[in-house]
Amino acid sequence: EKAGFDHFMLKEIHEQPRAYRDTMGSRISADGTQVTLNELTTLTPEAIREINRVHIVACGTAYHAGMVGKYIIEKMARIPVEIDVASEYRYRSPIITKDTLVIVVSQSGETADTLAALREAKRCGAHVLAITNVVGSSVAREADDMIVTLAGPEIAVASTKAYTSQLVAFYLFGLHLAQTLGTQTAAEIAETLAALKALPEQVEAILEQAEAIKGVAEEMAKHDNLFFIGRGLDYAVALEGSLKLKEISYIHSEAYAAGELKHGTLALIEEGVPVIALATQHELLEKTVSNIKEVKARGANVLGIAVEGELELQKSVDSTFVIPKTLDVLAPALSVVPLQLLSYYASLARGNDVDKPRNLAKSVTVE
Ligand code: F6R
Repeated sequence: EKAGFDHFMLKEIHEQPRAYRDTMGSRISADGTQVTLNELTTLTPEAIREINRVHIVACGTAYHAGMVGKYIIEKMARIPVEIDVASEYRYRSPIITKDTLVIVVSQSGETADTLAALREAKRCGAHVLAITNVVGSSVAREADDMIVTLAGPEIAVASTKAYTSQLVAFYLFGLHLAQTLGTQTAAEIAETLAALKALPEQVEAILEQAEAIKGVAEEMAKHDNLFFIGRGLDYAVALEGSLKLKEISYIHSEAYAAGELKHGTLALIEEGVPVIALATQHELLEKTVSNIKEVKARGANVLGIAVEGELELQKSVDSTFVIPKTLDVLAPALSVVPLQLLSYYASLARGNDVDKPRNLAKSVTVE
């Protein structure tokens, strides 16, 4: 059942190219110019034109996918997006009107907090779109519309292929909004679709370098504290990388927006502390490099996650893991993969139960 892999998590990491292909599947026209989300029934083009704000609500890893989703929707559709963890959303009297689109993201579709947020949103008259991996789930049944991620069953507690499939769902939905609202040109849409279609092979190329990550992970497993830094989309991925590492390796880590370090956290950087610096966003590269220099000056040992060809960046770090070239907006779909492998191998090096980490459940059905 693990298809020759030692753990479900490793199997699921390796299933991501397939999950990408399936989730894109027939939702991209054969000529590569259009997104077709036929599953949207109540979210008609007219209904989409009425939307004046979007709320994204989820927990844990799904929340981290939502952070990327916020960036995508704001960039592609120019609609303001707020994001909350579900357990906070309900209790802060969010401003919800009938022109609010609430997107709930849940792999299982059974997370109690997310479901309660969905119900609150519906009670206030919002339109609710679910992004879920389980068609018959409570979230799927109660939402007005849904986009199903075709990751396939996810067994390992640590979410991997569900997260990356949620990213694909957000890319497709963002492009669908852009097409409907005319906020992107046909050429821009076609360019993004072409880059999306290249992702599965690019993930395969990353997976072929798993051994390199294993070495780094074994070294990191000797430490009790480490940091992830990044700006923009890299920050969203840093949060996910840090969560993954904590939940299965039990190594304490913090993810920081790279520019925020010097407002306190820099005090924790001392000789030999590992810092994983995500630096895939071209417009922010120079700024990220200066943050890398700040931690290097305090003795940090920096692993950069960089896009192929960025030699300047590579000079500023101690070691680099390179991901294939893509559009900046799509980088999270690649850069998270080495971080998943890093957590996996760090957990293994520490002798933990990778698929069933202590204290955690796959589906959290209590509030
Ligand atoms: C982390 C993880 C959890 C879940 C969270 C939400 O690897 O698995 O953080 O992402 O409990 O679960 P779903 O997506 O099922 O609502």
